[in-house]
Formats: sequence, C-alpha cells, structure tokens
Amino acid sequence: MTDLTLVAADAATCVADQLRAAFRSRPDMEFKRDRHDPVTVHDRAAEAKIRELILAAVPDSRIVGEEGGAIGEGSVHWYVDPIDGTANFVAGLAFFCTSVAAVVDGEVVAGAIYDPVRDDLFTAGPDGAYHNGSPMRSAGATAETEALLITSYPSPRELRAEGEPALGRLGRLLTEYRTLRRPGSAALSLAHVAAGWADVALGLSVNAWDLAAGALLVRQAGGRFLGLRPAGTPATANWLGPGYLATVGTLAVDGSVVLDTFAASHEVTP
Ligand code: IPD
Ligand code: CA
Ligand code: CA
Repeated sequence: MTDLTLVAADAATCVADQLRAAFRSRPDMEFKRDRHDPVTVHDRAAEAKIRELILAAVPDSRIVGEEGGAIGEGSVHWYVDPIDGTANFVAGLAFFCTSVAAVVDGEVVAGAIYDPVRDDLFTAGPDGAYHNGSPMRSAGATAETEALLITSYPSPRELRAEGEPALGRLGRLLTEYRTLRRPGSAALSLAHVAAGWADVALGLSVNAWDLAAGALLVRQAGGRFLGLRPAGTPATANWLGPGYLATVGTLAVDGSVVLDTFAASHEVTP
C-alpha cells in the first residue's frame, strides 16, 4: 500500500470501535436538510477523530468532511464521510461505512471504505484495489437484464422536484434490471461494485465525500465509473458528483437503459 492509502485505511478504521459500540443503541438524532437526513453525535465524533489522525499523519492536508466542513490549506485534499448510511446506522440496519479519499492535483490517488459490522476493508491506490488485502476484480453481469442495480433514486427530494415522472423512471429500471435494491449507502454500494458483489450503482444527488474513494476502488478493480451531471452544467471531475453510474467491468454501457433513462436530463462525465 502507498503511504496515502495506508493513512486512508487507518483513518477509515480508527472509528470502528466507537461505531460498533453505538450501532443498534437507537442513538438520538438531529436532522440536516430535512427529516430524511439524520445526523448523530457519532457522525461528528467520528469525523473529528479521523481529522486528527489525518492531520497528524499528513500535516500538508486540507480535509473536507461531511459534518465539519473544510479545514487546512495543505496540498493533499481529503474527502471524509464518517458514516455513509446514517439512516441505516440509527435504525440498526447493517449497511453503512466510513469513507476516506485522498486527492492530489485533482486526481483521487488513495481511498479506503470500511464496513465496521462485517469488518470489510476496501482500499485502493495506484497499484490496484483490495478487499481485506486481496486484489479485487469488478466482474459480474454482462447484460443489464441479468444485473443487480443499487440505487437511491429517486430520493424524497428528487421525487418532490421531479414529480410523477421520477416514478416512471424508477419503474423502467425496476423492470429492465433483474434486481433493484435500495440499501442506502452510496460509498458501500460502490465498494460492492468494485468487489463484484453488485453489478451497477447509480445516484444523482451525492457529494464528493460519498464518491471519491468508491470511484477509485471501482476503477482500480477494473470496473467503470462515470459522472452524471445535470444537462447544461459544466463538466468537473466525475467523482465530485452530483450524479454517478458505476458498473462492473464486464457490463458494457453502450445502449445502457440507465443512460437512456436520464439522457434528457443528464450528461455523462467520463
Ligand atoms: C447518503 C447515502 C445515500 C445517498 C444519499 C447520501 P449519508 O449519505 O449515501 O445512499 O442516497 O444521497 O446523502 O447522509 O448517510 O452520509
Ligand atoms: Ca454520505
Ligand atoms: Ca455521512
């Protein structure tokens, strides 16, 4: 592992004990954007600990965290989601993770995603992508009709904004794919696509802290990661969001039902 991948892995795992201890305790929550967007003291405490670890290991850092915002002016930029899947975490559903990525000169160079319940550590760096130290290969379905798709589309806010047509789009994906699931953590879903445990992951309203580590994992495991941005908006790095489509490497995206479904509203950022 490169030094930055090691730091990302240390950062993603350093909060595991506290998250496991709090899991299934029905922790108190507050809400951020709306009542579908919970946050707990555990999100904030985990992010603070991760920030401390990163700054001690790599003082030349700037850290963007979901809960604490941006700190530092260094040249290594970190994106931290202390708990991705907080709604699952508060309810007691075992599908959440910690996600940490390092970006240098605009490129994601290291990433780690840790599922503390299953003790699954996914890491990626310039030399490849690994699950608990073993190389990962993003392989699986060869056609969307045989594939398992993970998506949180439409979220309650997307449904409010788009109305009934959003349900039509969901219906098309439900019908075309063999299986559609909404497990509810973008980062852990990307790690599953990287490992070949799910075939496709799709989201339209996420942030860099949800995507950066997972994007590198998928790509370094031989899968495909594309950005999806609202039509007419300028292209940025695809891991900045707001939308993404990730597939196992065995699935071609030419003529993809997903891309066709969103063709009128979204452009692809390779
Ligand atoms: C959320 C999860 C969810 C995605 C949301 C994210 P959070 O992150 O990744 O799957 O659909 O857009 O905000 O709030 O649990 O860190
Ligand atoms: Ca998140
Ligand atoms: Ca979060």
